[in-house]
Amino acid sequence: MVRTGVMTMTGNGLTSSSSTKLARAGRPLLEIHDVYAGYNVDFDILKGVSMHVKPGEIVCVIGPNGAGKSTVFKALYGFLNVRQGRVLFDDQDISDIRPQDALKAGITIVPQLRSLFPQMTVYENLEMGMYLEKDKERIKRRINYIYDLFPRLAERTSQKAGTMSGGEQRMLEIGRALMWEPKLVLMDEPSAGLAPLITKMIFRNIQRLNREIGLTVLMIEQNARQGLEISNRGYVLELGKNSYEGTGHELLSNAEVRRAFLGGR
Ligand SMILES: Nc1ncnc2c1ncn2[C@@H]1O[C@H](COP(=O)(O)OP(=O)(O)OP(=O)(O)O)[C@@H](O)[C@H]1O
Ligand SMILES: [Mg+2]
Repeated sequence: MVRTGVMTMTGNGLTSSSSTKLARAGRPLLEIHDVYAGYNVDFDILKGVSMHVKPGEIVCVIGPNGAGKSTVFKALYGFLNVRQGRVLFDDQDISDIRPQDALKAGITIVPQLRSLFPQMTVYENLEMGMYLEKDKERIKRRINYIYDLFPRLAERTSQKAGTMSGGEQRMLEIGRALMWEPKLVLMDEPSAGLAPLITKMIFRNIQRLNREIGLTVLMIEQNARQGLEISNRGYVLELGKNSYEGTGHELLSNAEVRRAFLGGR
């Protein structure tokens, strides 16, 4: 593990198989190089963030409230401008990408705050995951595929999303993010607001998707310990800059990281 503000490759041999050419070349799918971004013109929230995600990896970002974790997602999805630095995705420079093009490029996002349409059914919410697609048959096929992955959603196809339990709603949000056959899913605190048992279930499902369909995930987690346990690698973000990086195991066993971010045990 390294304590660093610059990008360092920490290959751990844990990446699972994926069909992209990048996987064969062992190259990152996503590269964030020294990125600066912020909301107010003269004030940067991100001050030199560097991270990478290889195909088939689960990578977890942890750090205190207000560190800029969600801001990283906004910057790389085009909701915020990258003021300095570069973002590469699948060998393309996406530093200036717009959100609709990020989707087309193969990145989807499960946002931190609840994002379902509560008055719409499970089926209709899943359809929204492919709102750019005109081919109705293709949408139907994708929804059936999501129902195979999450039979609980199939059972509830006509139920209004807002009436489902917190865990079911999170599963639906993840299912919706998979509709577009993404190469990378960004998950902002998938366990937020969920009871411990439901959190476990959501993490198990993320791991299963990673194993079974080679899903590549960049995830932010407040449940730092559990998030790192299911991740290949992780980053600590502090004050708009990454300060530690390493394999999930390395971060979990590092004394400083444990003291500062994992409840000291
Ligand atoms: N829309 C906005 N306008 C102005 N400032 C913002 C906006 N969104 C976030 N910020 C500020 O940017 C900083 C980083 O916020 P961000 O949401 O990225 O933190 P975070 O690490 O995701 O925190 P949390 O763990 O609480 O989700 C905070 O100081 C926050 O107040
Ligand atoms: Mg956040």
